[in-house]
Amino acid sequence: MLLLEHINLNVDNGDLALRFFLALGAVQNTKSSNSRQVHVNIGLSQFHLPFHVSVANPSPVAQGDAQFWRGYVELVTTEPLDAITKRLLMDSDLAECQVEGMNNESLLVQSPWGCHGKDSKSTFKIIQNKAVADAASAALHAVKGHHGGFGRLIAMTRCVHTCKVGTARLIANFYLHVLDLNPKKVRLFANDTKVLIQFDVTPQTLEFHETERARSDEYDDTENSKYHIAVYLRSEESFRTAFHNVCRANALFVNKKFEGGPIEFASSKTLHEAILTGQFRVKNMFDPVTGIVGHVMEHEIRMMSHVACPLRPRARSIMPVVVPGGKIKNVCKL
Ligand SMILES: [Fe+2]
Repeated sequence: MLLLEHINLNVDNGDLALRFFLALGAVQNTKSSNSRQVHVNIGLSQFHLPFHVSVANPSPVAQGDAQFWRGYVELVTTEPLDAITKRLLMDSDLAECQVEGMNNESLLVQSPWGCHGKDSKSTFKIIQNKAVADAASAALHAVKGHHGGFGRLIAMTRCVHTCKVGTARLIANFYLHVLDLNPKKVRLFANDTKVLIQFDVTPQTLEFHETERARSDEYDDTENSKYHIAVYLRSEESFRTAFHNVCRANALFVNKKFEGGPIEFASSKTLHEAILTGQFRVKNMFDPVTGIVGHVMEHEIRMMSHVACPLRPRARSIMPVVVPGGKIKNVCKL
């Protein structure tokens, strides 16, 4: 896969969520933010933060329904960590978000949303890593990126999520044999209790770690867990293969929360719609041989034709040059 492009978390206070991410060093995507959600850019990735219940229902997300990532997300910054600490402390609503700083090597912060104590908040580990930051910067300068550009928070490098004991191998099989990833990009480790999926465009992994308390299907009955991720597959061919594998198992997912909005951000119900929009959804991460669902996490599966893809090459700039005869002609220059 090319990129884990966004994590979508419903929040109960869009203004507070925006201030939190700006304090961390993200920038707002003002083009795709609107009256029901905020989008913030972190390099080529984003957090999508809806504060309305759904496209059709403008009721605010209830405090108890705010969503939190079960695990942690690692983000790379290009500025000193104490600059982030200072900005968090300057906002009285965010002053409590910093959990700990560890020897100036990383900063652990928790989201200001979530109401059931610290176990119900998203956790972010912010680090400095020059090599990763340089690689992310090079990738950012080669493609169009997101509207609004990028700030000091330059990459979403690790998304670590918990999963039920005994499911890491099933999850690996979903990525290997349903989404048809290159076997070199899916790695089981720690005695097959952890699985790592490596993305191609920037240093970035999605990991599932087995833990005793984790369940497989919290998505299905717990509003806090009904979040989704968006990933870009390498090619239309791999997109078609994944679509067929998902359909063959009757696992194509329609999320009613996005019905009524633009079709590119809704749920494709046929291959024709998937090719037209560049996106389809699946939430049951199943092993295609046994049919057993290892974990439930909604994925927006996308290809590069999707309207919101940040990976298109930068537009060629037009540069006037003088050609023989003295006439001025516009030519493209990279
Ligand atoms: Fe999304």
